[in-house]
Amino acid sequence: MAGNRAATPVQRLALPLVCMGAIVVLVYLMKLAFALPTTELDGGLEAADGAGTVFQLADGSHFPGEGKIRIGEEEISVQRIDAKGGKVQSGKDTVLNPNRFKVLERGVNGVAPANHAAGAAVSQVAKGLFFPENNSSFGDQVDELFYLILWITGIAFILTEGFFLYCIVAFWAKPGARSAYTHGNHRLEMVWTVIPAVILVALAVLQSGMWTEMKMSAPSATEPGVVTVQVVAKQFEWNFRQAGSDGRFGTQDDIPSTGRLVVPVDTPIRIELRAQDVLHSFFLPEFRVKQDAVPGLSVPVWFKAKRPGTFQIMCAELCGLGHSRMGGTLEVKTKEAYAEWVATESTKWNGENDGTDRPDWYGVQAKIWWWWDSTPTSVGFTGESNDRKRKS
Ligand code: CUA
Repeated sequence: MAGNRAATPVQRLALPLVCMGAIVVLVYLMKLAFALPTTELDGGLEAADGAGTVFQLADGSHFPGEGKIRIGEEEISVQRIDAKGGKVQSGKDTVLNPNRFKVLERGVNGVAPANHAAGAAVSQVAKGLFFPENNSSFGDQVDELFYLILWITGIAFILTEGFFLYCIVAFWAKPGARSAYTHGNHRLEMVWTVIPAVILVALAVLQSGMWTEMKMSAPSATEPGVVTVQVVAKQFEWNFRQAGSDGRFGTQDDIPSTGRLVVPVDTPIRIELRAQDVLHSFFLPEFRVKQDAVPGLSVPVWFKAKRPGTFQIMCAELCGLGHSRMGGTLEVKTKEAYAEWVATESTKWNGENDGTDRPDWYGVQAKIWWWWDSTPTSVGFTGESNDRKRKS
């Protein structure tokens, strides 16, 4: 850099302009990445075509392997399939099978399924910039807090970066100018320490009610109308046990399952979460629920689903080589359908377990529930105190 020659305005602004240009290009690339494809129905879809119906899109090559599409007012949950009906997720298979889709669920946005003619416009339903759909009673508060923090940090980012760019231009080297040395400004430093501190304390106070509701107020298992599910995380699967029709755990009509959790809509669900080997994290993205499963503790988790449907269960704690495939499905059923499911499953297990010994009741999960029933947990700080809090 020529220190003894005055920089032209163009030279002074070159760096800030290049920076801003880079940001604009980045935002444009992000917009491209988030752009939602549209196409047309190739062949009609009748109102009566329910789950399992196969249909074609004129050009579905940019649609995701699984997601929601919108035709008219109706949103439909769909999955891309190959000629044999198998799930097509990504890569070369997508290129070979761009247009065949299977209906998973009609009218997922509550709009009744309608007849859609061939050629009807089809668009992919936005998942939001950051979040999947929220389906839990407390999820909106969580999202609001996220966006509030994003606004605060976003404004702080723009102010500080703007000042930074201003300084680059204003304090550019001038001929004959000497460096100024400073030991700082005490008052200024106090200000930029106190302001963030006040914001952090305000956020902490603001979110405390929500934290209490989410994390400290799990309904107790004895409360009427509460559905309790016992969950064991182990490398690399989620195991569930629900009381059968008798409403009690440890009896022969218990319903065990791996990777699939079925619960009723609009009902407090109490999850009792334990881990058998290492740390895992029980993550329901659509319910804004994420809780570590800790060996030795039984941690209560709760949520209440807003609508029926099929959702994801994930593990959000790196727990080993199989971590990324440690997932499952959460099925939220209507209260009637759930009661029916419990009755059917309960009868099935009751019949299978009739006359057999207790250790055989849970099939491949026998060891897991034997372990649950015979291994005490140390008193989790969450476990005990939560229940006490509810009762008082
Ligand atoms: Cu279990 Cu990651």
